[in-house]
Amino acid sequence: MANGSGGFSPSGNHLGANLAFTKFLFVTVEDEVRSGARVRSAGASIARGFFNDFDADGTRDVQPCETIQFLLAVEVAPGATGLAAARFAVQVSSKYRPRLDDAEQELRRRLGDGGHVTSIEGAERSPRYSSSELYDYAYRRAQPRQSGRVARRAFVLPLSKTHDWWAKSSLERHTYFYPHVDAGSGCPVSGHARSADAGISTLFRRLYHNPDGYEREGEFDFVTYFECEDEHVATFDRVCASLRDTSKNPEWQFVREGPLWRGARVLRW
Ligand code: HEM
Repeated sequence: MANGSGGFSPSGNHLGANLAFTKFLFVTVEDEVRSGARVRSAGASIARGFFNDFDADGTRDVQPCETIQFLLAVEVAPGATGLAAARFAVQVSSKYRPRLDDAEQELRRRLGDGGHVTSIEGAERSPRYSSSELYDYAYRRAQPRQSGRVARRAFVLPLSKTHDWWAKSSLERHTYFYPHVDAGSGCPVSGHARSADAGISTLFRRLYHNPDGYEREGEFDFVTYFECEDEHVATFDRVCASLRDTSKNPEWQFVREGPLWRGARVLRW
């Protein structure tokens, strides 16, 4: 690992251990009419053995450890490339990382030249900057997961942080998630969690870290995932706008967003 501040040792350390793995697979097709049937049958094939999260509602006592969620893009901008051009996406999750590689290989094999796959991996980790008070504020009243029949919309946003961010000490980074006085302007600011307040009870959210560490060439540091009801799509956009406003949330100076993928949850492709 090139950087000492964000590295990950497989045995786990104070920087956080990977608790479970996830993979987002985005599929771009040239001709949806021609490739549709192949994409659908590839989806059915990789779904075997995974619990379908479309009907997950957060009330089960024991959460299944291998899950799948199919997604369809709600809009693809003309001329979009890479991930942003993907009509189809799927999230697979497991505690066992090779299981996700197998799913990806199976998808690629089944699609053949009928579709192009872009893959982003993530890992769940324990919160790093959240005190018990912040936990109370941002997690205890968080929107539980709802069925895809109710919370129909989903967003995937990969992003990275700049080298200046990773060069800061962990304690200094910690400040940005709380209301604090901005060192640059000398003004009190809301910080990340309070800027995102409107999303706490309305957006189901998941944060995944790059399982192999941060600042890796050609990879993202994080991938974020959100679900909500149709009526809260506007809340999602508002929360993003608020986080991007560096006069409220100076942390975003250090953020480099990847493409935001806007989709709908579906039972199958
Ligand atoms: C919906 C309301 C949201 C709340 C309440 C919230 C709250 C939090 C909290 C408390 C943390 C710190 C986690 C820790 O202790 O490690 C965090 C981290 C993070 N959040 Fe949010 N967040 C929200 C929305 C968002 C959105 C919309 C994005 C992306 C556009 C986002 C991106 C991130 C990222 C990338 C991190 C990790 C930052 C790092 O470790 O450097 N969050 N969030």
